[in-house]
Amino acid sequence: MKISLPNYALMGNPVSHSKSPFIHRYFSEKTNIAMDYDAILVPTQGFREALSAFQKQGGKGLNITLPFKQQAFILMDTLGKAAQQAGAVNTIFFRPDGSRYGENTDGIGFLRDYMENHQGEISGKKILLLGAGGAARGILGPILGLGPKEVIIVNRTKNKADVLVQDFKKFGPVKRVDMNELSEFQFDLIINATSASLKEELFELPAVIFKSHPWCYDMVYQSQPTSFLVFAKAQGANKCIDGLGMLVEQAAESFFIWHGIKPETQTLIEALRKT
Ligand code: ATR
Repeated sequence: MKISLPNYALMGNPVSHSKSPFIHRYFSEKTNIAMDYDAILVPTQGFREALSAFQKQGGKGLNITLPFKQQAFILMDTLGKAAQQAGAVNTIFFRPDGSRYGENTDGIGFLRDYMENHQGEISGKKILLLGAGGAARGILGPILGLGPKEVIIVNRTKNKADVLVQDFKKFGPVKRVDMNELSEFQFDLIINATSASLKEELFELPAVIFKSHPWCYDMVYQSQPTSFLVFAKAQGANKCIDGLGMLVEQAAESFFIWHGIKPETQTLIEALRKT
């Protein structure tokens, strides 16, 4: 018999192409925990009201996506460690006493996919992180927590990268470098945390950074390989990984926060890969 736990949703703008409803309905079926999970399109200026209305009508949990992750952060009563580090919330749990708990599962989603699904390593590795927006913020703390040799940040807007370095340098070795200085470095892992792939834009990267045959990870998932991964492969990247596994793993962690059960992820990743 199924337990009835209604009222879970994703809030964002846009949300129409999100795979989250499909993923959470799949988890719900496999774990036998009934939940209604919908995608809610929230007006850019209307997040605070939408959050209150959802909670008032009995909502139990939310995923938050662009552009509301930072706003969600300031509307919580308590925060998990990853959300505190990231300054952004992608998972909300409404406790029975009415308080709001916010956490960020992007970092753990990335690490589970990269390290457990693909046997990637962080400790002692030289890592290049492209981008300094919300996606980069979500994974930087958890990465630094695992002892990389160094994380280099490159971002189109330099001062955003400087702010990121300022916020995270207490967690480990991280610094900003200009794009035109990159050829002096060699990397074990290059992570694309920019939204350029989403827009099918390709920013100029010096081909020489792929000479050491690094692993390359694009946090974006699309049905076709992203322009970043296509370029990386052509320049000699050793292994190219897209964001599908991370998408599923961060959702599984949200599901765990809400229900205390971690759903199995491999069959879903394989099924989505075929669609
Ligand atoms: P997200 O939460 O997905 O990270 P964001 O906060 O808007 O979204 O950040 C997007 C990131 O992608 C930023 O690092 C952005 O660079 P800027 O800080 O200079 O805006 C980066 N980005 C987006 N499009 C890009 C492009 N065409 N070339 C290089 N960087 C790009």
